[in-house]
Amino acid sequence: MAKIYFISFIFLITISNSIPKTQSFVQTISPATLGLHKPQKLSHLRFYFHDIIGGKNQTAFRVASSPSTNNSPTGFGSVVIMDDPLTVSPESNSEIVGRAQGIYASASQSELGFLMVLNFAFIRGNYNGSSLSVLGRNTVVSAVREMPVVGGSGLFRFATGYAKASTHSSTELEAVVEYNVYVFHY
Ligand SMILES: *[C@@H]1O[C@H](CO)[C@@H](O)[C@H](O)[C@H]1NC(C)=O
Ligand SMILES: *[C@@H]1O[C@H](CO)[C@@H](O)[C@H](O)[C@H]1NC(C)=O
Repeated sequence: MAKIYFISFIFLITISNSIPKTQSFVQTISPATLGLHKPQKLSHLRFYFHDIIGGKNQTAFRVASSPSTNNSPTGFGSVVIMDDPLTVSPESNSEIVGRAQGIYASASQSELGFLMVLNFAFIRGNYNGSSLSVLGRNTVVSAVREMPVVGGSGLFRFATGYAKASTHSSTELEAVVEYNVYVFHY
């Protein structure tokens, strides 16, 4: 009798080992597997963001608004989607290093404050194809605005850091914003 129990026990163990465990999609691995044993680097990126809201080469378009948007001094509820060029210097015809692709939405009823959700998609040299993701608050009339960098891809995998934005110039058609971005990555 005891022997039969023992054999059934072994049998059950064998069966249960062959049934995939629900946790099996997660594994702990060594950081070296992904080349993460090297120390992190700190990079400083500086570029100029061109938000063109009108004219022939418009790059930012309002795609939604709330019933209050037009009566609101802050345009509360408006949502803009952008594909803004990023250049090495403030001039529009300077070299393009990437694009800011994403959304900004007026999210404050009391001051001009945007929720920024965007990717900086780089195209130059080794950085071509790498990106940084930003999620933050942008009170555009402040001299300097700080937004968290929440991640990245390619050379910027595991990126964390912040971006500082300051308006370089602004007309009815285009705002040029200097970005200084500081990120830790591998
Ligand atoms: C639009 O872009 C083209 C090509 O870069 C440029 O030649 C032209 O001056 C721009 N037009 C305006 C209104 O900025
Ligand atoms: C960036 O990469 C894309 C896709 O791999 C390629 O088509 C493009 O020519 C590259 N651009 C530059 C400036 O190297």
